[in-house]
Amino acid sequence: MKPIIVANWKMQLGIQESIDRLTSLRMELKDFGYGVEVVVCPSMPALHQAKEVLVTSKIRLGAQDVFWEERGAFTGEVSPQQLREIGISHVIIGHSERREFLGETDSMIGQKIVSALAHGLIPILCVGETAHQRNDNLQEMVIVQQLERALQSTTPPNQNEMLLVAYEPIWAIGTGEPASPAAAELIRQVIVRTLSERFGQEIVDQRCAVLYGGSVNNENITTYVHSGSFDGALVGGASLDPQAFSSLLTTVKEHYSS
Ligand code: PGA
Repeated sequence: MKPIIVANWKMQLGIQESIDRLTSLRMELKDFGYGVEVVVCPSMPALHQAKEVLVTSKIRLGAQDVFWEERGAFTGEVSPQQLREIGISHVIIGHSERREFLGETDSMIGQKIVSALAHGLIPILCVGETAHQRNDNLQEMVIVQQLERALQSTTPPNQNEMLLVAYEPIWAIGTGEPASPAAAELIRQVIVRTLSERFGQEIVDQRCAVLYGGSVNNENITTYVHSGSFDGALVGGASLDPQAFSSLLTTVKEHYSS
């Protein structure tokens, strides 16, 4: 499996800014060759135009959220079908900022995962503990609980499906203080074990990938993403500058192929 690097642009950029940066990133990566799966997730209003920028590019386009129903009276929501129409391949689900500011629950997240998979989208399920929970040494329990609740109704991904799980300790997001590679690796193993108990080891090996997120940058990325550890990363701040992000992608590619 190729390493998967997902850029989460959150609500950091205007629409034109997003398009300009995506255009620059495409230029930066024109000779990249793609030993790495690159997914960029701009905010919703930029997605349509972003897809046009990425026509014939190998850069994949992701959304930062999705609703679970296909259509109906759900003011403000965006359906998986609509994302598919645009040409979106991936969708971030259950990011801690949505859990915190929008009151998203594990059960809502679970419905989103089921619906995303049913519509041919690749969910990137985010899990992570707060600083408080880590201080109380509850991180493993919290992660297992979030996974079990969010995946309660999800059947094992079939051969056309994939499920990504991003471990993002909340205290590491946007703080410049990432989890230590050893602490993150322990949680990665908990995630793999929990997924294996649900879906079976073979499905997890073939159809699931685990990413690390939280203050990832060009200097620390290979301490998380390497063979025998994380399959990729979810990158916020360090994905916003096209040049810096393409350096990060090159670092991953070189590290993997060496
Ligand atoms: P960060 O954000 O890389 O800026 O810490 C990661 C995320 O929230 O997905």
